[in-house]
Amino acid sequence: EKIVLAYSGGLDTSIILKWLKETYDAEIIAFTADIGQKEELDGLEAKALATGASKVYIDDLREEFAKDFIYPMFQAGALYEGQYLLGTSIARPLIAKRMVEIARAEGATAIAHGATGKGNDQVRFELNAAAIAPEIKVIAPWRLQEFRDTFPGRAEMIAYAESHGIPVTASAAKPYSTDRNLLHISYESGVLEDPWFDASAPENKDMFLLSVDPEDAPNEPEYIEIEFAQGNAIALNGEPLEPLRMMEKLNELGGKHGIGRVDMVENRFVGMKSRGVYETPGGTILFTAHRKMESITMDREVMSLRDSLITRYSNLVYNGFWFAPERLALQALVTESQKNVSGTVRLKLYKGNVIGAGVKSPVSLYNPDIATMEADPTQSYDQADAAGFIRLNALRLKVSAGVNQQNK
Ligand code: ARG
Ligand code: SIN
Repeated sequence: EKIVLAYSGGLDTSIILKWLKETYDAEIIAFTADIGQKEELDGLEAKALATGASKVYIDDLREEFAKDFIYPMFQAGALYEGQYLLGTSIARPLIAKRMVEIARAEGATAIAHGATGKGNDQVRFELNAAAIAPEIKVIAPWRLQEFRDTFPGRAEMIAYAESHGIPVTASAAKPYSTDRNLLHISYESGVLEDPWFDASAPENKDMFLLSVDPEDAPNEPEYIEIEFAQGNAIALNGEPLEPLRMMEKLNELGGKHGIGRVDMVENRFVGMKSRGVYETPGGTILFTAHRKMESITMDREVMSLRDSLITRYSNLVYNGFWFAPERLALQALVTESQKNVSGTVRLKLYKGNVIGAGVKSPVSLYNPDIATMEADPTQSYDQADAAGFIRLNALRLKVSAGVNQQNK
């Protein structure tokens, strides 16, 4: 029997690797998607093999992640509960997709993951895997009573690691858990479970890895220009960049200026509220730039329709329905809505802020001749028309107000 395990090299998945191997008497294929975790990947292959994996896949999926996952999601303007740019949520479908591809290629009977039974990630891995490979079996050790009985706490895990020759790294000792990729780092659990705990306090500066504290950011603002084509960022300060390079560069810029920190309590799909702290430097710049680009290039009713669907779209990404037919249908609408979203946005980056500093487009719908308070050379708008427009719209308001007055 073969099992493909989504392996991060952390304490949990290291223990799961060993435990699966012993419990199921199976060959364990360790799979890590390189989606921009940087140093977390150092020495991973050797570690997986030393822990007992029969084979290790470390696949560089960064380009695919940027191009086919991050970019389409940003075209949609996705934002969960008004704050979260979905950095972890959007990575899960890609990991699930590659994992089932490997399972099929290897003739594995199951895939396994280290997500807990209380979180979103289990749902995302499994719904996205089901949508691609309905035949695949999933093992989620954290949901198994015998596994939880064996490892009731960190101490038992560390003891098991030591007795089984699994190196325990410093990250296992951090008082919170993290998830890193090209789009963000998330921080959850441990000390952060108290929503009164101030993650922005000076003594907690060390937690953040992608950005400086806004208070420590440069005193000089920095101007940048992002060029868009059909809703996708294609050039930065005049230099054409592929999605992956664009995200890397924007992360550097955002990180330098303390941009993109969010501290929130969010609603998990499985029902409980959960406190999360996020760093999304590049994504925050991109999100703001994209919205500004749309402001002069998108038709009012198209924007209204698309905006009305942002919550639906964001919930689908958050809840694990990336490969579901309704997300694909929404994406088709989003793609159509972005046809005209092309041009250049100028931004000022300053101490945690992304400030709009100009926007232009060869296909702009903004017409200063029509909007002007001065004489309109196009004669396309007659102010006298507005009187009838208001009268007709007021009609039902007057009728309803009259009835309410009579019945008082
Ligand atoms: N709360 C965020 C989300 O649900 C982040 C989850 C982080 N996951 C993790 N395994 N640390 O998308
Ligand atoms: C987990 O529970 O595995 C991490 C948090 C989450 O998935 O929401």
